[in-house]
Amino acid sequence: MIIFKTTQELQKMRQAGRVVAKVLELMKERVRPGVTTGELDNLANQAIIKSKALPSFKGYRGYPASICTSINEEIVHGIPGKRALKEGDIISIDVGTIYRGYQGDAAITLGVGQITPEAQRLLEVTQGALEAGIAQSRAGNHLGDISWAIQDYVESRNMSVVREYTGHGIGRRMHEDPQVFNFGQPGDGLGLQSGLTVALEPMVNIGDWRTRVLDDGWTVVTKDGTWSAHFEHTIAIMDGEPLILTQL
Ligand code: MF3
Ligand code: CO
Repeated sequence: MIIFKTTQELQKMRQAGRVVAKVLELMKERVRPGVTTGELDNLANQAIIKSKALPSFKGYRGYPASICTSINEEIVHGIPGKRALKEGDIISIDVGTIYRGYQGDAAITLGVGQITPEAQRLLEVTQGALEAGIAQSRAGNHLGDISWAIQDYVESRNMSVVREYTGHGIGRRMHEDPQVFNFGQPGDGLGLQSGLTVALEPMVNIGDWRTRVLDDGWTVVTKDGTWSAHFEHTIAIMDGEPLILTQL
């Protein structure tokens, strides 16, 4: 069942989104060689609490931290810990908050110090794919237009979109209908209209799209070991147009 939001609900989601954006800005300042992912998690947790919000990931299906930190060939759901970042790494940081009962969810991938041109291109293609998906998120379009825009953006640049994980509706719960695939057919699926709130989140691999989960039960990595990036925004369709909720 798809839950369309009222203007008041969208305002609370905007607040939750602002907290997410603020935490991601903090992460941009703190990511550098030597910092551990556990330190980033602590900083993020403190910033969320200080903003009168809650970290939505903590305890979700037993997840033990406030953010996900996924390095290099790790795609999503990496668990923060003692690992220190190294010059040349890339790190995807995923943040979710709950503010007055409403959720925000966003992710970015950052380079640690100087990164290779190939890694830089991966980041640009993934961010571009998210923007292409957002641009299609308008009343009158269909869900498949978003999916296809993301897939086409990535594949025409000779990279691949992860298929086993998807974007999602979001609101009072982190995951609501509809599922938003990062591949599909234009014109397919749900007709988009105002009040729809979705998290769009392309995950892009330099190599093959196939994935596997590490023995920790969470960390998703590329099967072929090539690097992967992840960008996510929570957006609303408002007055027929896309509005990014996870921004300052
Ligand atoms: N952005 C991710 C998602 O939409 C965050 C989930 S991580 C979890 O699924 F730890 F909470 F599961
Ligand atoms: Co999400």
